[in-house]
Amino acid sequence: MKYSAAILALMAEAVLAAPQATSGATASSSTSTATNTTAMASSYAGASTSDVYPPSGTVANGTLFPSESVVGFPGPTQTGVEPAAAQTAPLYPYNTGAAKSFPLVAAQPHGSNSTSNIDITKYWGNLSPWYSVNSSDYGLPNASPLIPKGCSVEQVHLLYRHGARYPTSGAAPATFASKIVNATKGTGFNVSGDLAFLANWEYKLGAELLTPFGRAQNFLLGVEYRQLYGELLNNFTAQKAIPVFRTESQDRMVKTAENFAAGFFGVPEYLQEVNIEILVEATGVNNSGAPYEVCNNSNIASRGSIGSTAATKFATNAFNSTISRLNSMVSGNLTLTPTDAIAMLQLCSYETDALGYSAFCGLFTAEDFANYEYYYDISFYYNNGPGSPVSAAQGKGYLQEFVARFTQSYPNASSALNETFDNSSTYFPLNQSFYADATHEVVVLDTLTAFNLTALFNGPALSTSNRNSSNNTFVASKIVPFATHFTAQVLECPARNVSKQIRFIVNDAVVPVSSSHPGCPVDPDGLCPFNTMVSVLQQRIAQIDFNYDCFANYTATAGVNYNGRAPH
Ligand SMILES: *[C@@H]1O[C@H](CO)[C@@H](O)[C@H](O)[C@H]1NC(C)=O
Ligand SMILES: *[C@@H]1O[C@H](CO)[C@@H](O)[C@H](O)[C@H]1NC(C)=O
Ligand SMILES: *[C@@H]1O[C@H](CO)[C@@H](O)[C@H](O)[C@H]1NC(C)=O
Ligand SMILES: *[C@@H]1O[C@H](CO)[C@@H](O)[C@H](O)[C@H]1NC(C)=O
Ligand SMILES: *[C@@H]1O[C@H](CO)[C@@H](O)[C@H](O)[C@H]1NC(C)=O
Ligand SMILES: *[C@@H]1O[C@H](CO)[C@@H](O)[C@H](O)[C@H]1NC(C)=O
Ligand SMILES: *[C@@H]1O[C@H](CO)[C@@H](O)[C@H](O)[C@H]1NC(C)=O
Ligand SMILES: *[C@@H]1O[C@H](CO)[C@@H](O)[C@H](O)[C@H]1NC(C)=O
Ligand SMILES: *[C@@H]1O[C@H](CO)[C@@H](O)[C@H](O)[C@H]1NC(C)=O
Ligand SMILES: *[C@@H]1O[C@H](CO)[C@@H](O)[C@H](O)[C@H]1NC(C)=O
Ligand SMILES: *[C@@H]1O[C@H](CO)[C@@H](O)[C@H](O)[C@H]1NC(C)=O
Ligand SMILES: *[C@@H]1O[C@H](CO)[C@@H](O)[C@H](O)[C@H]1NC(C)=O
Repeated sequence: MKYSAAILALMAEAVLAAPQATSGATASSSTSTATNTTAMASSYAGASTSDVYPPSGTVANGTLFPSESVVGFPGPTQTGVEPAAAQTAPLYPYNTGAAKSFPLVAAQPHGSNSTSNIDITKYWGNLSPWYSVNSSDYGLPNASPLIPKGCSVEQVHLLYRHGARYPTSGAAPATFASKIVNATKGTGFNVSGDLAFLANWEYKLGAELLTPFGRAQNFLLGVEYRQLYGELLNNFTAQKAIPVFRTESQDRMVKTAENFAAGFFGVPEYLQEVNIEILVEATGVNNSGAPYEVCNNSNIASRGSIGSTAATKFATNAFNSTISRLNSMVSGNLTLTPTDAIAMLQLCSYETDALGYSAFCGLFTAEDFANYEYYYDISFYYNNGPGSPVSAAQGKGYLQEFVARFTQSYPNASSALNETFDNSSTYFPLNQSFYADATHEVVVLDTLTAFNLTALFNGPALSTSNRNSSNNTFVASKIVPFATHFTAQVLECPARNVSKQIRFIVNDAVVPVSSSHPGCPVDPDGLCPFNTMVSVLQQRIAQIDFNYDCFANYTATAGVNYNGRAPH
């Protein structure tokens, strides 16, 4: 290791200055501890650094270290009943503590005092760890994800996102690091005060892969779903079959499905108790989990990525006072810009999610974090929500696949779904009591838009210029965080005139459908008669013109609610 005594002293100081990990309420303010020492940037500031594990050529040796089944002597192995907490528990296990979750720690915002207790991790858009959302946010104050009285759960369909990952390749944080590297090549690059840590900061993040915390999120989601719905496995036992869980071929997507399965079935049982189907994610290949690979307009600035442009524009005015404060702590050839403010906020999120803590977080105020969240709200609403002209088309693949599973009939090829797999009882079984598909957050949001779950976006189209004048229920960190999950519960409710019912749940919030799905009654539990819902969704499938939205020549603008469909 190349740490000098001076750096070790600085690191020790940073540890002392770091907020207490155990109690958000006692976290110390980040302002009072900043020193006025000016540090000359070291020659390696901003450099990328990485480690590689395992060493090449190494492999576990199953002969020297045989598995449990070979060693034998397992002791008694009597199983208990499958858990069914969704049905049997009086209380639902909400994830309402700090979103940061064990084992991450996060600072209080800059300028906060000893009495403030702000969970900054709930302001990170798609980089937030998931947390329970309250049904009252969307208009069902008394709904719970527990199975309503008088009903029993017959079938569950789950669509979930990978847990925390490194930045995608070429994202803003790595560009920021190279800007620091460039600054070290000029003369007199010094940093002071809250920014002093940058003098010895290195870029330690990889790209694309799940982080250890990300793995834990997917594992725990598997544990949670086994606990809530394990009894549905008895249906597989009766059929003498094991389930197919699907994912995409990217490394993090494969590991996501494996960690979920490991949590759901146990290690190493998951290796034998589920078939994990890996669908190729690559340009030009049909895959409902990666529709942007075959939807050309999704990658065109004036169509599929109007949200990114609008969010960048919003950021040019949102962080001015913080940028001036930070620039006053820098000398030499470096001037921080709004782009750098976003990059440093993202470094706060990514370093926390990957390394457990980030010195960048304490640079920003509570107001900055609110604007950072709104930056993501704009980006996602207009890239993958109702403000996008391609989102419904991209979500149509999963919409068709859900309806196919609801109706036991294979879907037709009018979207990004892969007909080769979806015509096969091996690769697209239609008789499962429990389905679990892993995907990306953009696709989860595309899917919610395709389902026309407009309660999630209630209100006028998001303002692209002013957070305070916006009046929409949409908040990105509630809908597209790491490990976000969309659940459909199919229920039997014998006491109702129509016994077969369905409802939709996003991160524990039950979504009302009575205003968006004609024929679904106002219902405090968000229920809709199954056949009514299926026929509304079939109409929605017919309405979404994949070919036009993904390939036609049109221009879209941020500021409009398109219901996810291209303007004609
Ligand atoms: C740190 O430096 C700033 C700017 O030079 C100054 O306003 C402030 O009073 C200093 N703080 C301390 C604790 O010396
Ligand atoms: C495992 O170890 C045994 C005994 O040392 C050796 O014969 C075998 O080649 C090893 N297998 C692997 C996969 O390394
Ligand atoms: C501390 O911050 C909170 C908001 O986070 C504010 O309401 C309160 O007035 C502040 N207290 C002091 C003493 O500044
Ligand atoms: C959801 O919000 C309602 C109304 O504000 C409140 O009564 C309820 O306790 C909240 N539920 C949870 C799980 O936090
Ligand atoms: C760093 O400097 C190189 C060479 O001048 C330049 O090509 C590159 O764009 C700079 N990077 C950043 C992030 O400014
Ligand atoms: C300052 O940085 C910019 C961008 O990296 C570079 O093009 C320029 O040559 C640098 N100027 C000095 C004086 O080092
Ligand atoms: C369906 O998926 C397979 C394997 O991933 C791929 O080879 C094939 O091209 C896909 N079909 C279409 C129409 O893209
Ligand atoms: C914020 O800074 C930008 C330059 O980055 C400037 O164009 C804009 O006018 C400033 N906005 C406000 C509200 O001061
Ligand atoms: C298993 O679940 C499916 C889907 O709910 C249902 O159609 C089927 O009847 C169930 N089979 C058994 C044996 O319970
Ligand atoms: C927000 O919406 C509510 C209800 O639709 C309306 O009463 C209120 O005036 C709106 N506020 C703003 C700032 O648009
Ligand atoms: C979608 O929901 C909106 C209400 O937000 C409704 O006006 C529209 O008819 C719905 N579309 C379909 C196809 O159900
Ligand atoms: C798309 O439409 C615009 C405006 O009508 C036109 O200028 C442009 O050439 C068209 N592009 C293509 C590829 O047809």
